[in-house]
Amino acid sequence: MRPQGVLCSFRLLQRAYARSYLEATPGPGLRRGFQTVDSQPRVPDFAFAFDIDGVLLRASKPLPGAAEALSLLEDQGIPFILLTNGGGKHETERVAEISKKLDIQLDPTVIIQSHSPFAEFVRGTDEQSALEDKCVLVVGGEGDNCRQVAYRYGYKNVITPGDILTAYPSIWPFSKVFVDYYKQFSKPLPKPINLEDPTKSLKIDAVLVFNDPRDWGLDLQVVMDVLLSSQGYLGTLSDKNGRADLPNRGYQQDGQPPLYFSNPDLWWAAGYHLPRLGQGGFREALEGAWAATTGGPRKGVQLQKTVVGKPYQSTYEFAEKQLIRNRSRIFHTEENLGPLRRVYMIGDNPESDIRGANSYRSKHGSEWYSILVRSGVYAGGEPAWTPKTIVDGVKNAVEWGLKSSKWS
Ligand code: G3P
Ligand code: MG
Repeated sequence: MRPQGVLCSFRLLQRAYARSYLEATPGPGLRRGFQTVDSQPRVPDFAFAFDIDGVLLRASKPLPGAAEALSLLEDQGIPFILLTNGGGKHETERVAEISKKLDIQLDPTVIIQSHSPFAEFVRGTDEQSALEDKCVLVVGGEGDNCRQVAYRYGYKNVITPGDILTAYPSIWPFSKVFVDYYKQFSKPLPKPINLEDPTKSLKIDAVLVFNDPRDWGLDLQVVMDVLLSSQGYLGTLSDKNGRADLPNRGYQQDGQPPLYFSNPDLWWAAGYHLPRLGQGGFREALEGAWAATTGGPRKGVQLQKTVVGKPYQSTYEFAEKQLIRNRSRIFHTEENLGPLRRVYMIGDNPESDIRGANSYRSKHGSEWYSILVRSGVYAGGEPAWTPKTIVDGVKNAVEWGLKSSKWS
């Protein structure tokens, strides 16, 4: 199964983590936080991957059994990672937060967030040229959080839709009510819109949707403006748009910047008793406005974009790689650990967690067993993707996995 648009390669993910923070050797403080087993250990040939929202936490509060489940695995020296389509904070910050909530010292190497792969674009990949000094439009998240994450990844020239609205309030007249909110964190644009000479206007070189937008209207309008612009120059319109003689009817054929989404989830388990629309909902809203504007699929026009995250193969490939790396660090050796044969993926969303684990084909020979919990998005009935088993909560899931692997 391949993500829509350009495939986010495994290499991208691997280097993203290597460079951003995951290969850092844990310092003394972190070693305390990293599962380590010093005596002659019994090496498990299995591991666990935990989804976060709807499995360990719901509305940022610990779910029943979550703390015990992780500390049990830590005590037993059984490797695990947290594999989430969520984000909005830097990995180190998110791990510190979860450590506190679940009363367990977690190392940043155990978490994989939705936007973690964007760290790699700073220096560039085979698919994406280096963006370190380029103008990047970061969309989504609370306040300025995602811009700060982008800075910590190494981006140097980051703007947000809030910056644009503060500079040009008429760009989306309906967000006038939010101007005070944006004023708290918006920054001056590196360049203005220049109607006399558009090529002197602010040029956006990439659009990265880091997290769920808080102001769908403004963010959708700004992203549409960029996609319809000439070469990413803000305030322009490409004269190629709508030209039937060009591929994609001339849309996104004029040097417009690439568009990346970090999380495909249409729904997710928040505090409300029913699932809430996630970043996938924002993408679908954009796809709807795009189709209505361009004629869409019925006129042969696609929205060219890249979507990363669960359920895509590249995300699971990286997760397994991180598990293997962490496993050898737990046991202080690369040799004779024996292969990682099985990973129990515990999730609440059949579309991302179960589908991803069921579809994942490992190059390292591991088999991924999906376990669906009832504490999140899934609320009963026949799930769209069939898990190995369905249990009430994360502790039952860990017990089921330990039993399946005959780990007394
Ligand atoms: O925004 C977070 C949501 O999409 C789901 O997160 O942890 O259940 O993958 P998670
Ligand atoms: Mg979830």
